[in-house]
Amino acid sequence: MSPAADESPATDRPPLDSTALSADGALLPGLRVEVVEETGSTNALVAERARAGEPEGLVVVAEHQTAGRGRLDRRWETPPRAALTFSVLLRPSVAPASWPWLPLLAGHAVGKTLRAVGHDAAVKWPNDVLIDGRKVAGLLVERVDSPAGPAAVVGIGLNVSTSRQELPVPEATSLALEAGGAPDRTALLVDLLATLGESYAAWQAGGAAAEARLAESYAAACDTVGREVRVDLPAAQTLHGRATGVDSRGRLLVEHDGTTTAVAAGDVVHVRAQERPQD
Ligand code: BTN
Repeated sequence: MSPAADESPATDRPPLDSTALSADGALLPGLRVEVVEETGSTNALVAERARAGEPEGLVVVAEHQTAGRGRLDRRWETPPRAALTFSVLLRPSVAPASWPWLPLLAGHAVGKTLRAVGHDAAVKWPNDVLIDGRKVAGLLVERVDSPAGPAAVVGIGLNVSTSRQELPVPEATSLALEAGGAPDRTALLVDLLATLGESYAAWQAGGAAAEARLAESYAAACDTVGREVRVDLPAAQTLHGRATGVDSRGRLLVEHDGTTTAVAAGDVVHVRAQERPQD
């Protein structure tokens, strides 16, 4: 473990170990990791490679992203070597109707990996990862059309040794802040890719039964289910209600005014009881 986040200046942060990442048997077959010192956005870089015909399995990790992209046109900024910022190129063979599961599956895989190393992590619909209600990881999954067919770029940003002062918002956190020390990023990346790879393979191979299992397991790990929520919907509409579950297509079910709406896309805020609107 490195020193606690609040004690560790950026210059002391260890680099990723590219040799370990390329060692025989380090990763699931088909995965190829490239570490770059600096890039604007690993999602942009991997999307470019996908358009040029790169096969599934490329992983690009950046020690520093200078123009990291977040969901809903937000930015994702992290100091050099303080986070894991990486993108994975996938070319799912499942039916297009199943693709909406991919962002949820990926966020769930990050949550599972963090729980396996002792963090009390949960997923906030659709794919933020929280520890004790604070966001530790965000995901941006983008579809790319290429001559070889559609591809998905799964971008993951996980705050590892980020100090409190370096976090973009007070509602965020890092693994070091939660545990009093930062884990080794190389080992953590290997674990994340293994969990993601296994979940992806099970989803691709398992059809409707695998999706039903995924829905159940995702809902059990989802901190949003059971909460009062405000959902900012794409057409500038807002929904207030209680999240009651996740349906077979990965949509969040929100009960309001005696009816249930299945939300496919939106920005969710977990509302505390005293913050509920009076309507
Ligand atoms: C969000 O929570 O808004 C999503 C953040 C996603 C950030 C990751 S970092 C690696 C990859 N490259 C990007 O430009 N974005 C994603």
